[in-house]
Amino acid sequence: MTHQFDVIIVGAGGAGLRAAAEIPSSYSCAVLTKVHPLRSHTGAAQGGVCAALGNLEEDNPEWHAFDTIKGSDYLGDQDAIEVMCNDAPRAIVELEHMGMPFSRTEEGKIAQRQFGGHTRPLDRDDPDSKRVAVKRACYSADRTGHVMLHTLYENCIKNKVRFFSEYFVTELLVENGVCSGVVAIEILTGELHTFQAKAVMFATGGDGRIWRITSNAHVGTGDGFMMAYNAGLPLEDMEFMQFHPTGLWKLGILVSEAARGEGGILRNKDGERFMERYAPTVKDLAPRDMVSRAIIQEIREGRGFKGSDGTSYVHLDLTHLDPKIINEKLPEITGFARTYLGVEPTTEGVPIQPTAHYVMGGIPTDVDGRALLDNTGKLVTGFYAAGECACVSVHGANRLGTNSLLDLIVFGRRGGKAIVEFLKAGAQMPPLPVTAGHWTEKKISELKARANGEKPAPIRTELQQIMMDECGIFRDAKGLTTALNKITELRERYKNIVIDDKGMQFNTDLLEAIELGNLLDTANVVVTCALNRTESRGGHSREDYPDRDDKNWLKHTFAWKADGNAPRLDYKSVSITKYQPKKRVY
Ligand code: FUM
Repeated sequence: MTHQFDVIIVGAGGAGLRAAAEIPSSYSCAVLTKVHPLRSHTGAAQGGVCAALGNLEEDNPEWHAFDTIKGSDYLGDQDAIEVMCNDAPRAIVELEHMGMPFSRTEEGKIAQRQFGGHTRPLDRDDPDSKRVAVKRACYSADRTGHVMLHTLYENCIKNKVRFFSEYFVTELLVENGVCSGVVAIEILTGELHTFQAKAVMFATGGDGRIWRITSNAHVGTGDGFMMAYNAGLPLEDMEFMQFHPTGLWKLGILVSEAARGEGGILRNKDGERFMERYAPTVKDLAPRDMVSRAIIQEIREGRGFKGSDGTSYVHLDLTHLDPKIINEKLPEITGFARTYLGVEPTTEGVPIQPTAHYVMGGIPTDVDGRALLDNTGKLVTGFYAAGECACVSVHGANRLGTNSLLDLIVFGRRGGKAIVEFLKAGAQMPPLPVTAGHWTEKKISELKARANGEKPAPIRTELQQIMMDECGIFRDAKGLTTALNKITELRERYKNIVIDDKGMQFNTDLLEAIELGNLLDTANVVVTCALNRTESRGGHSREDYPDRDDKNWLKHTFAWKADGNAPRLDYKSVSITKYQPKKRVY
């Protein structure tokens, strides 16, 4: 079945919904999602969305931009970061006007809390003066992403956006640099649908499910990355994966940084507040790359707790906080600790470990969400990306907490506006490639026809384990090579997988098999790029190259699909406007 729309948006998280809300109802716009919009992974975002509103103490978008640039370990593009930070206050007020129920101060203003790496200079006229944590994260208790998702969804309904829920998109159609639509499997019936469109936006999220311990929902399987890559488009900076310091031990479920923003403290088994040694000024509110490394360092040096299963953790200590703060400001995460670990956070330390959380890289775009065809700035006609799947690049080598929800609403909106301009300029419906749907048909028939072979689950488990072991917080050439060899072996074994369900309706066996292919292929790009970058920067910490190397590596990696296993790599320079790279100390 073929459908025609002016605009197709793939993914119904914050970026996709914010873009859809921007398309006037005079244009036909459809959002495709492999779940229900309200189950998108944005709903798992907890602690806040930042903007220099200055509701509780003096703040300034310029200070926000400085923090974001420094936090990115100087790999973020400074022009794009300025766009995001300058637009942030407006974007928050807009959400408020859309109906988002923010937590409030006593006087009724939007409440704000501290988050890692967000600071203000003690001398307001000197960005180099000592900096202290600032309250910049606007929040709704610890369910900020959840209420944002609901607010945006309601606005899309008001805007008459058409939703295709439980449609699993498998192909991005791009020919000669022009995008003409996507192919999707309707999960309920198993039927194939082709969606032809003048403009397509990907807001398909991340790939956290490559790792065993992750905060990501099960949908985070890198589908968008691989569809773009398979269509001949580049991926940028895929080596940079953020590990959030505080995932619930063994499970990886996010325990918001808001807990530390409200005064929570990380302690080792000796009860020591160890972050004082690693980041003497901001301590527990250092950026995530640093806190995650510090936790692993404590564990390696024998100062972690040992669990009954032999794995290690440290404590997030909230016991000194007023129970009113815990109940009113952190109800979700403390509930998770009680439910999943049987721990009472008001009286006991919460066992935590770093968890794979966020892809800093992705589909390269300009500041208006237009996808890049290459590293010279050429654009793909009619293809856009926003949110975690996109790399603008505002997060560089390490994202600051609460800049992700901001990224969604700022660049989702800008992408939506750019699409409207494109349509107004007379965009025509592009012809579909004659091969549209062929890859998906072949994949489905192969998977259903195979009677003997290996089940997908062990391949997925082995992938997730090797990525934890060798492409996690600390990396080196030996481990990354081991990971790459293992991925090559797993990709070979994947060619012979067998699924039990050969039916049409709600065949999750089939979908998970396709997702596994995306996980393996994305991991192949991530590890190749990580092995190639012989320096340490932000979330990419090479023990064999412990220093940042601006002379050779102050540049973005671009990866394209090539013949053979390895992607083809090239580079793009970083945009620097005001701040020359410096040593990053907190
Ligand atoms: O810790 C958190 O609440 C996560 C926020 C984020 O990733 O931006």
